[in-house]
Amino acid sequence: MDRPKILIHLDTDPQPSVFDAVVAVDAGVDHLLRHAGVGPEAVLDLVHGAMFTRGPEDLKHTAIFIGGSDVAAGERLLSAVEASFFGPVRVSVMIDSNGSNTTAVAAVLAAGGHLPLAGCQALVLAATGPVGSRVVRLLAREGAEVRVGSRTLARSEATCAAVAAQVEGAKLQPLEINTREQLAAALDGVQLLIAAGAAGKELVPAEALAAAPDLSVAIDLNAVPPAGIAGIKVTDRAKDRDGVTTYGAIGVGGSKMKIHKAAVRRLFTSHELMLDAEEIYHLGRQLSESHLNE
Ligand SMILES: NC(=O)c1ccc[n+]([C@@H]2O[C@H](COP(=O)([O-])OP(=O)(O)OC[C@H]3O[C@@H](n4cnc5c(N)ncnc54)[C@H](OP(=O)(O)O)[C@@H]3O)[C@@H](O)[C@H]2O)c1
Repeated sequence: MDRPKILIHLDTDPQPSVFDAVVAVDAGVDHLLRHAGVGPEAVLDLVHGAMFTRGPEDLKHTAIFIGGSDVAAGERLLSAVEASFFGPVRVSVMIDSNGSNTTAVAAVLAAGGHLPLAGCQALVLAATGPVGSRVVRLLAREGAEVRVGSRTLARSEATCAAVAAQVEGAKLQPLEINTREQLAAALDGVQLLIAAGAAGKELVPAEALAAAPDLSVAIDLNAVPPAGIAGIKVTDRAKDRDGVTTYGAIGVGGSKMKIHKAAVRRLFTSHELMLDAEEIYHLGRQLSESHLNE
């Protein structure tokens, strides 16, 4: 008989994410053990509790989920978790701090359903945040030429450096975008636009898209009015707007939820998985188009 599925949720925030807890339950987790305010110093004991309680054949029924609003803090936890394992004595781990991985994966998969990502000219706005930086990383891995937009050149350069360190041969261009002229220059020749700005911040006014005659796909991940890209509705899902295929945050969110649940379920198929952006992207690709579009 299979052991119950136990998910140990390590959250860097003072209160563990309710969102992630609901998704875990909906993904079929039998027992959710939630730990809040977790820092790297607390990880060893927590992970050993997961590793040493079940025999080797049952380790795949225990897994670790890393969440919380601070992605950098989540990544520090992930390193500490990895360092706590030894040899084959380990359990599977997923990181999705702030929903950054599952959201970025859903957005890039949506884009890739409409145009070839390899070699495409892409602009990611507010690319320095948790979601945007993962979008840049995934696009760069797919061979896109990515313009990395930020209000601050230094932040854009820092994101480019971080992605370049992870993706060999990444084609990235840091851009500071604060004025209409800078936005128009950034949009010139772009086929794919993904806006990953903070909630309720308009990054692209309606008239600005005139500077992007080659635009094929535009995705806005901001769900809070006003839209990040004027003219895109939050519910847009492969909507044709003047020849541009558009997605809004809710349009992307349905796929994100399916990918998140599938990733949690996948954790319990092995004791040695590590699900970060790339692995979740790979998993998302395996889900059929029809399944994601249901
Ligand atoms: N659809 C979904 O399922 C889903 C899931 C999760 C998140 N989201 C949404 O995805 C978006 C990105 O999430 P996130 O966590 O990465 O966002 P975030 O950290 O709140 O902000 C992302 C970036 O927005 C820029 N920004 C911040 N304040 C701004 C302001 N006042 N004006 C203009 N730009 C500003 C910053 O970039 P610079 O400083 O470099 O300019 C920041 O790095 C958010 O709108 C979030 O709500 C959607």
